[in-house]
Amino acid sequence: MMTTAKAFVFVAMILVSMISDVVPDAPRGVVLEYTSDGQMKFPEHYREWVYLTSGFDMSYNPGGASDHHMFDNVFVNPEAYKAFVETGTWPDKTVMVLEVREAQGKGSINQRGNFQSGVMGVEVHVRDAARFAGKWGFFGFDDGKKTSEVIPQTASCYACHTAHAAVDTTFVQFYPTLLPIAKGKRTLSEAYLKEAEAKGTE
Ligand code: HEC
Repeated sequence: MMTTAKAFVFVAMILVSMISDVVPDAPRGVVLEYTSDGQMKFPEHYREWVYLTSGFDMSYNPGGASDHHMFDNVFVNPEAYKAFVETGTWPDKTVMVLEVREAQGKGSINQRGNFQSGVMGVEVHVRDAARFAGKWGFFGFDDGKKTSEVIPQTASCYACHTAHAAVDTTFVQFYPTLLPIAKGKRTLSEAYLKEAEAKGTE
């Protein structure tokens, strides 16, 4: 005979299977997933995550203006965003996405300024301490790639982010809703504070 508890579990299982039939791909579902050979799978739903900023024509080298304009948009998974608001820093399994888009001037009724158009590249920064020596790994998903190998630790990505980024190798100094939180919780990195002091911007 079926106990009440068993019957409840049984009905719950049927309900769950019915729901997963009608919602084939839950939004914000899987944030971080790897293939069996250790590649990261493209986080398909990042556009439904929390928006942090848009950079316009940002360049990290002096001089040398580029001949085309670009926007970049940064997103983070909602669970990590909530944790940041509470603690001023990122939890493990944080996934941040930098989406680079072409800036377009001519189109529809636009007379001046630029709006965003096609995707030029997508880069991802992942905190997974058990997997990466420096706790964080970078990935590149250019040309619509669905999986990416981790970018080697010797790449310039790691050097620049470690030396200049405000919170745990992420560029919180450019994310306007997060910078005041990091200041309040005193989670800004030593390197960033020294650099800001030297430049007189803190
Ligand atoms: C010379 C410095 C520099 C280098 C090199 C660099 N980045 Fe960044 N990165 C930045 C800055 C500045 C931002 C903030 C962008 C903004 O505000 O829109 C950023 C933001 C990001 C973000 C958003 C999350 C975060 O960590 O803040 C990702 C993802 C990212 N970069 C990936 C990469 C990858 C992949 C590489 C190497 C292929 C790379 N970066 C190399 C300076 C750098």
